[in-house]
Amino acid sequence: MGRSTPFYVCQSCGAQSRQFFGRCPGCGSWNSLVEQSNPAADGRRRRTTPAPTADGAAPRARRSEPIQTVGERPLLRLATGFPELDRVLGGGLVPGSLVLVGGDPGIGKSTLLLQSARSLADVCSVLYVSAEESAQQVKLRWRRLGTEQAAEGEGVSDQAGLQLLAETDLELVLQELEALRPAVAIIDSIQALHDAELSSAPGSVSQVRDCAAALQRLAKRQDTALLLVGHVTKEGMLAGPKVLEHLVDAVLTFEGDRFASHRLLRAVKNRFGATHELGVFEMRDRGLVEVTNPSELFLGGEGPCAGTATIVACEGTRPLLVDLQALVSTTSYASPRRTATGIGINRLHQILAVLEKHLGLPLSRFDCYLAVAGGLDVEEPAADLGVAAAVVASYRDLTLPAGTVLVGELGLGGQIRSVGQLELRLQEAARLGFTRAVVPRGSGLAPAAAALGLELLEAGGVAEALVTALGVDPAAD
Ligand code: TYD
Ligand code: MG
Repeated sequence: MGRSTPFYVCQSCGAQSRQFFGRCPGCGSWNSLVEQSNPAADGRRRRTTPAPTADGAAPRARRSEPIQTVGERPLLRLATGFPELDRVLGGGLVPGSLVLVGGDPGIGKSTLLLQSARSLADVCSVLYVSAEESAQQVKLRWRRLGTEQAAEGEGVSDQAGLQLLAETDLELVLQELEALRPAVAIIDSIQALHDAELSSAPGSVSQVRDCAAALQRLAKRQDTALLLVGHVTKEGMLAGPKVLEHLVDAVLTFEGDRFASHRLLRAVKNRFGATHELGVFEMRDRGLVEVTNPSELFLGGEGPCAGTATIVACEGTRPLLVDLQALVSTTSYASPRRTATGIGINRLHQILAVLEKHLGLPLSRFDCYLAVAGGLDVEEPAADLGVAAAVVASYRDLTLPAGTVLVGELGLGGQIRSVGQLELRLQEAARLGFTRAVVPRGSGLAPAAAALGLELLEAGGVAEALVTALGVDPAAD
């Protein structure tokens, strides 16, 4: 096969072009186009492509079939040893699936996957490809992680099913995969792999895409579940791996506060389960442990105090009790300062405007700081009523009665809108000992709440909700 016409790939967005541009027509970055040596070879590369079936002359047999006759296989799932990870995956790892695990360097991706490999190796064959650390380093970590698990069960030291390969060359990794045919393969990381046939540097868009595509073709053929580790860049994107998002079955992100020990695992895409599922872990000195009662993590713990309100957020199917804290103080600036940690700043602006308009509070003369406890990001509008309560409580220097939770979206007209999964939220609040819940009107959940021992306080508007929650009228002077 001769060399085809030149072909350029943008290293920052992956756009392809037959012509060279100094500035990428796709994303506008400068000097990001790199010539790809032989694009045609890409699609039909070497060993990973199935051999041509017929001799060319024979007409191809039909390959499609009526949907009714397509056999249904029950979806098997492999347990990773972490029920939290299994839940985020949609009930375990699906054989033959391709999962991308992204996160900041140092957040604990290798630790998570090595611990999972350890458990998976008890039930199936696992190949761990370390492209970043030497075999010695991985072994050391494996030992360190093993001591706790080994103390619990017997026979864990017999890890015949776990094979380790420290390699960065794609071709050698593919050969090993083909030779071992493991049930699960972990590639740590996809950015460190390198295809010698491409001229671009490891970690570049073309390398990442090429390596992942080659691995996927082989893995799908031999029903190997692939877990790819991808690093997040400065911009917070799964760079390089961003171009893989359409290719993979699931994208998990592992995030956490650099200053706190807990880590959050989320599914941002999942062909085999729900997205927005959340798994909570804690990094200890012997690896990651699951946090089975994460609500406790996001409750401030200091008890009721002025300017604090508790909400029940829902992450996927998991309700979480979360404390919000507001600080409202007279401004000394021409325009008041507003900051929000863990909640969108525009959402805060909007809630402040609603409070100003519908309760007549002169908040535009006050600075307002809002923080979500525990470093969680709450994106749900269901947090609105809690934000409003925290702000008003701080403004009036009031403490909400102990055991109160607030759930509801705030409309621009000051109305409280209904939210999804309210019953689930109430159950979690009751489980953690809360006794009063301020919720949108018309929930129809009064009997359910009574059975849970919760006093259900329904409100149609923000003023009514806050009077009910605080026990005094915040708008009265
Ligand atoms: P690592 O899994 O190497 O992160 P990533 O693969 O995402 O880059 O985790 C590295 C951090 O975790 C490192 O700062 C040390 C810490 N750590 C622990 O606190 N306890 C442990 O048992 C292990 C293995 C790591
Ligand atoms: Mg790592």
